[in-house]
Amino acid sequence: MADLTGFLGVTMLWVKAAHVIFVIFLMAGLFMMPRFFVYHHQCAIGSDEEAKWIDREDRLRRIILNPSLIIVWILGLALAFNGGYWSEGWFHIKLALVLALSGYHGWMIGYGKKLKKGIRPLSEKQLRLLNEVPGVAAAIIVILAVVRPF
Ligand code: HEM
Repeated sequence: MADLTGFLGVTMLWVKAAHVIFVIFLMAGLFMMPRFFVYHHQCAIGSDEEAKWIDREDRLRRIILNPSLIIVWILGLALAFNGGYWSEGWFHIKLALVLALSGYHGWMIGYGKKLKKGIRPLSEKQLRLLNEVPGVAAAIIVILAVVRPF
C-alpha cells in the first residue's frame, strides 16, 4: 500500500519505483557474481584467462553490485521512515532478510579477493548451490513487501 501521507508525499511513488529498479540491478549482480566465480575456477591460476575474470569481477563489483546495494539501502530506509513501519512484523522479517542478503554480498566480495590471491576455498558445485540463496531470499522479501502477511 502506498503511503502518500509521509514526508515524501507523492514523490514516495518515484522513490519506491527507484527502489525496485535498483533492487533489480542488485539482484542481477548477486546472481552473476557466483557464475563468474564458477568460470574463474575453471581457469589456471595466474593465466591470462584468469586475469580477464578478475577484471570482470572487479567491474561487476564496482559498477553494479556496490552502488546498487548502497542506493537500495538509502531508498529503502527513506521509504521506511516515510511509512513508519518500524513496529510491523513484515518489515522486521524483511529487514532481517535484507541484512542477510547484504552479508551474502559482503561475503562474495571477500571471496573475490581470495580468488585474486589464488585461494579457492569452495568447489564449483558449492558455488552453484550457493547461487540458490539470493533467489530464495528475494522471493520471500518481495512477498513480505507486497503481501505484508503480518
Ligand atoms: C536494503 C534494505 C531495504 C529496506 C530498508 C527496504 C524497505 C522498504 C520499504 C519500507 C518498502 C515499503 C514502501 C511503502 O510501500 O511504503 C519497500 C518496498 C519494496 N521493497 Fe524494499 N527494502 C530494502 C531492500 C529490498 C530488497 C533487497 C528487495 C528485493 C529483493 C526489496 C523489494 C521491495 C519491493 C518489491 C517493494 C515494493 C512493495 C510494494 O509497494 O508493494 N526491498 N522496501
